Amino acid sequence: MTRTVSTTPFDDQKPGTSGLRKKVPVFQQPNYAENFIQSIFDALSGFGGRLLVVGGDGRYYNREVIGKVIAMAAANGFGKVMVGQGGILSTPAASHLIRKYKAFGGIILSASHNPGGPRQDFGIKYNAGNGGPAPEKITDAIYARSKEIREYRIAEIGEIDIDIIGTVEAGGMEVEIVDPVRDYADLMESLFDFEALRKLFESGFRMRFDAMHAVTGPYATEIFERRLGAAPGTCRNFRPLPDFGGHHPDPNLVHAKHLYDEMMGPDAPDFGAASDGDGDRNLIIGKGIFVTPSDSLALLAANATVAPAYTGGLAGIARSMPTSGAADRVAQKLGVGLYETPTGWKFFGNLLDAGMATICGEESAGTGSSHVREKDGLWAVLLWLSILAARRESVSEIVTKHWATYGRNYYSRHDYEEVDAAAANALMEELREKLASLPGTQVCGLKIETADDFAYHDPVDGSVSVQQGIRILFEGGSRVVFRLSGTGTSGATLRVYIERYEPDAARHGLDTQAALADLIAAADEIAGIRRHTGRERPSVIT
Ligand code: G6P
Ligand code: ZN
Repeated sequence: MTRTVSTTPFDDQKPGTSGLRKKVPVFQQPNYAENFIQSIFDALSGFGGRLLVVGGDGRYYNREVIGKVIAMAAANGFGKVMVGQGGILSTPAASHLIRKYKAFGGIILSASHNPGGPRQDFGIKYNAGNGGPAPEKITDAIYARSKEIREYRIAEIGEIDIDIIGTVEAGGMEVEIVDPVRDYADLMESLFDFEALRKLFESGFRMRFDAMHAVTGPYATEIFERRLGAAPGTCRNFRPLPDFGGHHPDPNLVHAKHLYDEMMGPDAPDFGAASDGDGDRNLIIGKGIFVTPSDSLALLAANATVAPAYTGGLAGIARSMPTSGAADRVAQKLGVGLYETPTGWKFFGNLLDAGMATICGEESAGTGSSHVREKDGLWAVLLWLSILAARRESVSEIVTKHWATYGRNYYSRHDYEEVDAAAANALMEELREKLASLPGTQVCGLKIETADDFAYHDPVDGSVSVQQGIRILFEGGSRVVFRLSGTGTSGATLRVYIERYEPDAARHGLDTQAALADLIAAADEIAGIRRHTGRERPSVIT
């Protein structure tokens, strides 16, 4: 039986960089999740009788919302819902299932790298039939609908056991519970030479993968330990927990510090990696060396042909605007296109669909390729392993040689988290107002060449996205970028991205913060960070 329930709109259901993210208690308000799910369905058309893929990163409230999505999909006329067993699907695995089974789309429940638990974060994201995050015109339509919604439809289907693999009927719709790992692991096996990777591990190569009690645990143990023969214990914190063990499942140098410390220690394994809450981000650390996501993108692109999926070469490389220009130099050398998009994986979708780019990456620890339409943490790890297997050099040797060939882009991001939203907006506004007056002026001994507010003109569909980050470019190619995060759940987060290009190999061994010191000072001078935020220093430096 289907019920139509009357409701009143919430005014805060605007999807951010990656879906709607709020604290769990916000989602637990009566009708809150239902309103948003119905707004998604109302913003779409043509899904009658079609397949919807549903899964999440296992965080607190995942199961409850999966139940709601199933019941509402049935009431709204979907033909079938495919759910990962236990409600688990990593974001890249969900993207793959949508593509493989030609689903109409998918709903992914995650707040990515944000903490989970009864008072922490939750999120709902819609992915379209290409497997990628919904483009802005759909998320705008969802938001518009959420402000007008008066009723939602839900089927009374009783309890469905999502822990048992198999197909059941619910509200006139099929519900198939699938192994969340198998199809994804098969996809990885089709892209990479697993035989070569097995040989790498047989040769005594040691790796540490930290799943951070998040979704990649079951994927990583299947792929690394079972299929590739890595030593038992290679994967740590591999059991997904609703609160991620009380930690931030964010694979950066702050929240994965234990891995960093291990990799810098005397008994470090050859390779260390971690992934985030929903499995799309990656952290790469070699013995004694952290690889920045921007460098990792460049390195993966430069060496991709070692893997069977990419032997034919790359069609192009895409990076988000704040990501360093290291990949640009690789694209130039390969003679392929380089596309600079706004922050947010969704902007890569058109380029990938059009066959213009093969590998994409972001400074926020996301790298991926045309194999799915999301960034993919384990994919990045497997491509790194493929490079290590082919070159039989250490991470450090590979990185140093890369810098010697292409030059080094010193790069760092300074985050000011949970600052007052009005203060953060005022900082950005003030910057915008003085943009035109900046070129030609000197700040902290550095000459500003150009300054603008990044706007993206999508070369595929012609859409334009404005105000995507303020760029200050200095003479010699150094730059500072300011933008406000689109993924936070409280206050505002100011991100300052700082970059300096250094062609001279004799100067490649400097400490990053020291190499960027004058630019860091200039950033404060130009934007008045301390003045606006009242903060003496960033909360996170990556
Ligand atoms: C999510 C998106 C990424 C994006 C990142 C940073 O992870 O999937 O594509 O780069 O958020 O977003 P933010 O707006 O917080 O800088
Ligand atoms: Zn994520």
